[in-house]
Formats: sequence, structure tokens, C-alpha cells
Amino acid sequence: MSCLILIGMMGAGKTTVGKELARRRRMRFADCDQAIVARTGVSIPTIFELEGEAGFRRRETQMIDALTREPDLVLATGGGVVTTPLNRELMRERGIVIYLDVPPQVLFERTRHDRNRPLLQVDNPRQRIEELHRARDPLYRETAHIILAGGRGNPGNMVRQIEEALA
Ligand code: S3P
Repeated sequence: MSCLILIGMMGAGKTTVGKELARRRRMRFADCDQAIVARTGVSIPTIFELEGEAGFRRRETQMIDALTREPDLVLATGGGVVTTPLNRELMRERGIVIYLDVPPQVLFERTRHDRNRPLLQVDNPRQRIEELHRARDPLYRETAHIILAGGRGNPGNMVRQIEEALA
């Protein structure tokens, strides 16, 4: 089948849900950020430091394009993927786009001790998450074919809901 592309904020569970979904449907799995790290040999924070967010976004578009050329892939994307208009178009063209909609409070709890997300290394990460969520939520909704309002975003529930929506 065509690719299943998971979108949503940092901490929404795209990687966890994506791996389980791929296992159940016997599809391949890829994580866009991990693929970029494997390709460049450096961490996401290092890419942000050396090339800025704009440089990272260019790599992200190239990677999504490369990974989704073949079908039968579940792809977990980075939270900011929808901020590039070209990505929104590309993802809808290449697959079924699924938005994991998780409340900001839960996202904050899940990411609060994480040092690997450059956009959250600020004095008030809770506020930053709320701002990013407010700005991006309309873009996720506009891009997605399927929207999962996951309550507290329990990954097992989300996988089941996706399978029901695809059936
Ligand atoms: C980002 C989310 C991260 C990663 C980068 C930027 C964002 O991915 O792509 O740090 O802009 O929200 P996750 O959503 O997997 O944390």
C-alpha cells in the first residue's frame, strides 16, 4: 500500500506508534530525523548549530522525498515538517497522512527532560510547546487525511484507532 505518514508535535509518539503500526501491517518503518542523523553522521542539535533551522528543513524535505518514493513504508516525521509548504504537498501526494493530536500538557511532560530537541532548549519550554502547538495545529489538520485525537495519546490506543480508520 502507499506510505503511511505520521505527523504531530514533538512528544506525540510518532516513532513509538509508527514502529508498532509497521510491525502489525508488515510494512517497513523509517524515522525521518534518525535517517538524517544516519546520513550526516551528526546529531540534530549539531545540524541546527551548524546550518540553522533552515538548513535542517532543507535536509528534511530531501529525506522525505527520498524515503517515500517506495511504497509500504510507515514514516515518522519531525514535528516541524508541516512548516515547509512543499512538505505538506509532498506528503499528501505520497501517502496517507495521519495526525497524532496530543494535548500540549502531555507533550510537555514527555519532553521536559529531553536535550535532543533544539527548539525546546529555552527558559520556558512549556510556553514554547503551547506556542508551537497553536501555530502548527491548523497546519497538521490541513495536511492530514486522518486525525487522531488521542486523549493522553496512549500509543496502543492510537495504533488501534489508525487500524480502524484504515480498515
Ligand atoms: C522538531 C521536531 C523534532 C526534530 C527537530 C525539530 C520540530 O522531531 O525534527 O528537533 O520543529 O518540532 P520530533 O517531533 O521527532 O521530536
